[in-house]
Amino acid sequence: MTERRPFFIDTDTASDDAVALVMAFARDDINIVGVSVVAGNVPLASALQNALYTREICGREDVPVYAGADRPLMYKLGTAQHVHGNDGMGDIGLPLTGRTPSAAHGVDALLQASHDYAGELTLVTLGPLTNIALAVHRDPTIADRISRVVIMGAAADHVGNVNPVAEFNMWVDPHAVQIVLDSGLPLEFVGWDISRRDAVIVPDEAQRLRAIGTPRAEFTIDIQRIVAEFCANDTKLAGFDMPDPITMAYAIDPSVATETRRLNLVTECGDGPTRGMVVMDLLGFTGREPNALVVMHADHAKFISQLEAAIS
Ligand code: BDR
Ligand code: CA
Repeated sequence: MTERRPFFIDTDTASDDAVALVMAFARDDINIVGVSVVAGNVPLASALQNALYTREICGREDVPVYAGADRPLMYKLGTAQHVHGNDGMGDIGLPLTGRTPSAAHGVDALLQASHDYAGELTLVTLGPLTNIALAVHRDPTIADRISRVVIMGAAADHVGNVNPVAEFNMWVDPHAVQIVLDSGLPLEFVGWDISRRDAVIVPDEAQRLRAIGTPRAEFTIDIQRIVAEFCANDTKLAGFDMPDPITMAYAIDPSVATETRRLNLVTECGDGPTRGMVVMDLLGFTGREPNALVVMHADHAKFISQLEAAIS
C-alpha cells in the first residue's frame, strides 16, 4: 500500500485555491487531515462556501473543513474580489450557499493535527498567514512538530500584484507573516514570480484542459473567468496564472522546483507604499541567518501534467 503523507491545507478559497484543492483531493498518496479557511480573497463566509463546494465536486466530504480567522491580526481586511469575482469563483453562477463546516476552529484543528501527525505533517498555506500566526502565538512549540510549511506568498524578484512590491497574501496580513518568519517553522516559499513565469495557462492550454471534459476540468477553467480578465488587463500576462496550484504541485512533488535557495526574509509591516513586501536578502547583505527556503524556478511542464492528472 502507498504511504499516505499527511497534509493540512490553509486557504482563502477563491478561484486558484479551488484548483489547488482539486489537485490535493485527487491524490491517493496524500492524506488531507484538514482544511482551514481564512479571510483573504473574499470574506470568510464566502471562502468557506467555496472550499465546501470544491470538496463536494471532488467527492471528498470525508475531509473536514474548518472556519479560521475572519480578519487579519491588525489591519482591516482587504479582499481581492476585483481579481476573483464577487463570489471568488468567477461569478459564473455556482450555488455557493448553505454548506456547513466542521464545528472546531481552524487554528485548534491545525494545532491538534500537529500533535496527531507530529514530525510528519506538511502544512500548505494558500492565503494570508493569519491562522498560522495565531497557532504559533497560541503554542510556539508547533514549530517542532511540523515537517514542512509550504507557503504561497511573496516574490523573489520583489515584483508585486497588489502594490508594486507586495504579493497579495503577504499584503493582507504582514504582521502574521513576520510572526511566521520568526517562528522557527521550516518554511518553503513559492512566490508570485514563480506563478507569473512558470504557471501561466495560455488560452490554447486552457481550452485543451477544459476539453478533458470532466466536471472538475470544466470547473477548473470556468472559475478563472474574472482572473483571466485581471491578468490580461492588470498583470499583463499571456493567460491566467495559477499561484496556489503551482504551490500545491511543489508541496506534492518537490521536484517541480528546479532551483531553490535558502534566504533570510523580513516583511514590511507598515501601511505605506511597500506594505507587505517580503524583503529577500538575495546578496546576503544583512548577514542574518536564512529563515526560509525559496523556490527560484519551477518546471511548467511538470506542473501542467500534475494538474492534468488531477482533472482527468
Ligand atoms: C495569491 O493571492 C490570491 O489572490 C491567490 O489566491 C493566491 O493565493 C496570489 O498573490
Ligand atoms: Ca489563495
